Amino acid sequence: MRLLLLLLPLLLPLLPLLFLLPFSDGGGLIEQTCKLTPFPDLCLSALHSSPGSSSTDLHGLAGIMANSVLQNANQTLDQIQQLLDRSPADPETEHSLAYCAELYIPVVKYNLPQAIDALSKGRLGFAAYAINDAVNEAQECEKKLSGGSESLSQVSDRNKIVTNMAAVALAIIKVLQKGF
Ligand SMILES: *[C@@H]1O[C@H](CO)[C@@H](O)[C@H](O)[C@H]1NC(C)=O
Repeated sequence: MRLLLLLLPLLLPLLPLLFLLPFSDGGGLIEQTCKLTPFPDLCLSALHSSPGSSSTDLHGLAGIMANSVLQNANQTLDQIQQLLDRSPADPETEHSLAYCAELYIPVVKYNLPQAIDALSKGRLGFAAYAINDAVNEAQECEKKLSGGSESLSQVSDRNKIVTNMAAVALAIIKVLQKGF
């Protein structure tokens, strides 16, 4: 008891720190990180909806974001292929869709999985390079879609999400490389 009384003056200044603890978890890291990306809301919703994001570090967040890019690119490819399978579109629409499918297949099969693998090994430069490649392909597809039919504008919307998510992933990798 006596000891505690002696220590009390030392411990009192630390008391406010106890209240800060709940705010210094992964949630804080997510907010802090997303603020530094070009699309903070997209970043927050992608990270908050991924299990494990609140208990990971910045490397983990970059990996989760790269995975979100892959999931979205995969969904985009899926949508393109469904539109292609659907009964007859005009030849020009069909041509644009086939062109986009060819761009997205390597993105989903190689570029993004390679980026995720590189991130897990700390090879940040290569990861950024591979994600940049994916952005280029999505933008190439986008050029082909502009001013097209309604089915093309659905693909265009997804294209933009993929591109914006990739920009978020690249921004997080940059923070990893250069610090906050
Ligand atoms: C892409 O989606 C399909 C289902 O639509 C799934 O079978 C496949 O595993 C997914 N690929 C990746 C890389 O997530």
